[in-house]
Amino acid sequence: MSFGIWSEKYSVQNVIIDEQHRRLLDILFRLERLVNRKSHPDEMVKLLKEMTDYAAEHFKSEERYMERIGYPRLSAHQEAHSRYTLEVLKYTLQHLEAAPDNPRELLNFLTHWWTDHILKVDMDYSKFAARQELSKL
Ligand SMILES: [Fe+2]
Repeated sequence: MSFGIWSEKYSVQNVIIDEQHRRLLDILFRLERLVNRKSHPDEMVKLLKEMTDYAAEHFKSEERYMERIGYPRLSAHQEAHSRYTLEVLKYTLQHLEAAPDNPRELLNFLTHWWTDHILKVDMDYSKFAARQELSKL
């Protein structure tokens, strides 16, 4: 089973963020395929860079959204994003200009982090936003 495929259960009920998550999970899916067919290290490095750049863009946009809706646990969420960024940066630095020695380990970390983060941490602001909407009725 591939974890990289977006499904409705990942929806945070925001079309822009859902689209960004869809793209991130698609990158993960492509990464998984690269790992499975033991592709050229350059391809892996290129895709990891794409993942890091897009994740940074996505985090900024998601944090702006949480700020806009007055989400009370914004700083804890920002910390989770920072910890992730640092973790990936550490990993990338260890493998600077080279593909990871154990790409499956990195793939597992990324897959677990993103699915868990979307389903638990992101879902919390989604529920908060839904409650805000309901209170306006
Ligand atoms: Fe998030």
